[in-house]
Amino acid sequence: MTDDLLRYRSQFPILERTTYLISNSLGAMPRGVYDAMKHYADTWATRGVRAWEERWWMLAAEVGDQIGALMNAPRGSVSTHQNVTTIQAIVASCFDFSGKRNKVVYSDMNFPSVMYFWEAQRANGARVHMVKTDDGITVPTERLLDAIDEETLLVPVSHVIFRSAYINDAKAIIEKAHKVGAYVVLDTFQSLGTVPVDVQELNADFTCGGVLKWLCGGPGVGYLYVRPDLGKKLEPKITGWIAHQNPFGFEIGPIRYADPPYRFMNGTPHVPSLEAAGPGLKIIQEVGINRIREKSKRQTVRLIALAERHGWRVNTPRDPEKRGGTVSIDLPDSQEVCTELIKREILVDWRPKAGVRMSPHFYNTDEELDTAIAAIEEILRERALVTK
Ligand SMILES: Cc1ncc(COP(=O)(O)O)c(C=O)c1O
Repeated sequence: MTDDLLRYRSQFPILERTTYLISNSLGAMPRGVYDAMKHYADTWATRGVRAWEERWWMLAAEVGDQIGALMNAPRGSVSTHQNVTTIQAIVASCFDFSGKRNKVVYSDMNFPSVMYFWEAQRANGARVHMVKTDDGITVPTERLLDAIDEETLLVPVSHVIFRSAYINDAKAIIEKAHKVGAYVVLDTFQSLGTVPVDVQELNADFTCGGVLKWLCGGPGVGYLYVRPDLGKKLEPKITGWIAHQNPFGFEIGPIRYADPPYRFMNGTPHVPSLEAAGPGLKIIQEVGINRIREKSKRQTVRLIALAERHGWRVNTPRDPEKRGGTVSIDLPDSQEVCTELIKREILVDWRPKAGVRMSPHFYNTDEELDTAIAAIEEILRERALVTK
């Protein structure tokens, strides 16, 4: 079978030297980033302060639109930030937790940083309700939906769970939240770039994530989509001059908010990271999420079959429709196995309660999956010999 997506391999230098199966953590760097960084340095060196008006000021919104195009967000509805944790703080700062509607419902399968942030909001009056997983893989949707009630203000949940790749039923969660007057903060970090996301179809309120994993955009760029009707009226209390209607007026007194996306930003943007994000976003747009998803489903099926053939525990849903791009494989001494794989230039990672996470992306070959599995088998065999 020919795999048309493999023609993009030459654009990712690290694929020449490693078996790169870790796009759930850090996507491979596109070759174009060298030029983007050079362009950044040249602009700074030659245009100096004029770079702001000629390019840098607009870049935060332009990159937001590039990301937005991948999730069917209208232009101007996506702002860019440093990371998802900061984004939670910006969203939280739009709300008041002193009233009766102050409940925050989330799942213990969320990414921990998001959990730490919301747990800390108890000090600001939030009543935080955690819904626990039964099996360490899935989120109990019915219990989550039941917990979202008339006193719920916000529901921060991951679209795809980082540990297990389980796909949350975002539509049902958003529908239930809207029925009772709550808002959902959907974290699409582990979905956008590998699983289709359509914020308009979902009627999402807030959607956030970052570009460094499946979008091959490098560290330093998080994104926040705010539904346009909300975007016009919300007033983030974490704010600053970039969010001002007239930033260069340097007005004294309270802020007069700009329209989105600048409304949700605050201080000087992270220009180098925004420049680095461009090439990856361009490639993902060109390849197309649907083609990426089809290939991902096929390759995760293959990985699971190989793992099960060896009798290894797979902590990832078997149904491809309920699974994102990662396969978590639990093995004897899986953390040590992971370290050994990395020594052998097979780049994967390990997470507690998950095991070794393998995440093929559009640029991976089927042979690379076979190589990784064969290496695990070899490592386990060698370890067994050593410990005898
Ligand atoms: C689902 C999810 N959310 C958030 C993060 C990271 O959050 P932050 O951008 O604040 O570092 C990750 C992984 O790093 C993740 O997998």
